[in-house]
This record gives sequence, structure tokens and C-alpha cells, in this order.
Amino acid sequence: MNETRSLVLIVDDNATNIDLLVNTLKEEYRLGISKKGSMALEYAEKYHPDLILLDIMMPEMDGYEVCSRLKNNPATRSIPVIFITAMSETVNKTKGFTLGAVDYITKPFHAAEVKARVQTHLALATMKSQLRSQNVLLEQMVAKKTLQIQEMLDGIISSMALMVEIRDPYTAGHQQRVAQLACAIASRMGLSQKIIEGIRIAGILHDVGKIRVPVSILNRTGQLLDAEMDVIKIHPQISYEILKGIPFPWPCARMVLQHHERLDGSGYPFGIRGDEILLESRILAVADVTEAKSSFRPYRPALGVEAALAELREYRGVWYDIDAVDTCLAIFAEGEFQFDHCEQQLPHHLLGNPVIPRTGNTLPAPPLPVAHK
Ligand SMILES: [Fe+2]
Ligand SMILES: [Fe+2]
Repeated sequence: MNETRSLVLIVDDNATNIDLLVNTLKEEYRLGISKKGSMALEYAEKYHPDLILLDIMMPEMDGYEVCSRLKNNPATRSIPVIFITAMSETVNKTKGFTLGAVDYITKPFHAAEVKARVQTHLALATMKSQLRSQNVLLEQMVAKKTLQIQEMLDGIISSMALMVEIRDPYTAGHQQRVAQLACAIASRMGLSQKIIEGIRIAGILHDVGKIRVPVSILNRTGQLLDAEMDVIKIHPQISYEILKGIPFPWPCARMVLQHHERLDGSGYPFGIRGDEILLESRILAVADVTEAKSSFRPYRPALGVEAALAELREYRGVWYDIDAVDTCLAIFAEGEFQFDHCEQQLPHHLLGNPVIPRTGNTLPAPPLPVAHK
């Protein structure tokens, strides 16, 4: 026996009908027979026939009920059902289709008609099944490619961040840490995962424009001169210029452009205020100052998280977004977040400048700068 033949289940309580159908189909198909609806359901779940020929009028459970249960069971939902019955009223046919049957054959039937319809629907079912398999395969390929592209994007973004941090080893890992804190704040504020992803990327790259700032200024150990601060202040615009050509699905270029803007208009580069500043940039600003104040800088020792949080409290609603500040304070108060200063350090061989030894996070304290850079 050719076991590759399709399996057709005949469900009918009438022995004569069963014989007729068996004689019609036995040469081309393997056949299952059930005289009761309940048995048909069990058979379908166990053997998963390729097609079911279903009588409507049966004792105990009629064909409509059998069809309805088959279609409500994920294991049997995809099996095509053809009703075979003496009921020829349109309303009966319509009900059958509504319940999910694919066709309707009226008794007395012709063998050729039954054969033709069974063959057609088996072919259709095979095509549907192939299509489903192809879709699954395509979805897997798309998911794999998407993951590859995502990993590539992450790699490129990290490399871009590294390019600027190699020149400014004292702030190595700053952008990553800002991104992590900004994401934690955004998440706690209830922003969508999509927006948070944009913030993450903008965070990792927010200071990439410092590539334009001379190393001598970045690593300056004394108080910065006004002219030097003016040079540093160009970095958001350079970050914007570097990122604006990348078709991110988020306004990352504008996020980095505005990360030094302040609510009261005292920020740079444009001195825009309040809601004129992107929410994402207001969140980045809070994360940026918290990380920067907490960490060591060439011109001062690390001030610690408490000092950073004190600045947030002092300038809450003046420089910094109230919601972002409150969320940041809550995150630290509840121990939900802490900076990882170890992971992000650049390897020494990548540092382009002599490494100043650090004792913990402290160095002899030079004068404080006039502004956070
Ligand atoms: Fe910055
Ligand atoms: Fe920064």
C-alpha cells in the first residue's frame, strides 16, 4: 500500500452511504470511517486526516456540531471539511460554510463529482500547507537577518562611540553609562520600547561631536577658559552633523543636538526652552549630568552620585525636566540602578594619552570648571 496517499475520513451514520463513498474513493486514498460525531473528533485529533467528508444529519452529534468543534480545536482546525448531505436548502449550505467547511456536496451524489471535489480540496490544502511552511521559513529568515542587522548596527554605534572616547579616555564609557541611565529613566516613565531604543542609541552617541574638540582641551586639568568652553560647546552640533544623514527611525540627531539645552533657555546651542526641547533630550540631559558629576574628570575628582542628585534637586524644573528628575531620583533611592564604571573602561593600549593614575575615583582636586562639559 502506498502510504503517501492522502487520508480521507468519512463520517456518516448510514452504512449504505459509507459503502458508496468507500467504493468511490478507495482506489486513490486511504480511508478512515466513523459512524458517530464524537468518534470522528477523536479520530481527527489522533490521525489528522487530510480531508473530512461529513454528513450533517447524525444522531447524538450532528455534522454542524462536529465541524464547529473541529474548527475550534487548533489541532484539527486546518483539516478541510466537505459536507455531504441530502439537505439542499441554501440556508443549510450557508451554515456549513459559516462553520468553516470548504465545500458542500448534495446527495444523491455522482462518484465523479465526489472524486473531483476531494481532489481539488486536497490540492488546495497541500498548497496552503506549503505556503504556511514557506511563510514560517521566510519569517525565520527575516528574524535572522534582522538580528544580524541589529548586531551590526550596535557594533557600528559602539565603534563610533569608541572613536571619540579613545581621544578622551577620562570619559571612557560615559556615553554607554548615560545611555543605560537614560533608558532606565525612560522605562520607568512608561515610554514605549521603541522610543527607549531611540534614546539608547542617542545616548551612546550623544557626545560623538567631541571628536572635533582638540584633545588638549578635552584632557585639560585646570579650569577651562571661556574660549575653550566655546569650543566644547560646538559638540552637540557636530554630533548632529555626524548623525543627521543616518536614517534612524528616531530623531537621534535632534536628540543629541539638544542634550545640553536647559528648560529655562540657559543651555546651548540654541537656548531653546521647556517643551521646545525633545522629551528624549530632556531625559538624556538628566542622565548626562548625573553620570558626569558622579565620575572623575581631568579637571576634578569624581563628585559621587549624591552630588549629582543634589544638582538635579536644585535645578529640577529650572534646568532639568521635572518628571525625568523625579524618576531618576526614585531609581537611585530605590536602588534600581547603579553605574558600572568598570566594564566601560578602554583598554590602556587604546588610550592615546598618558594614563594618570587614579586612586579610587579621586585625584588632587583642581579648581571646578565653569560648566559641565
Ligand atoms: Fe555633551
Ligand atoms: Fe555627555
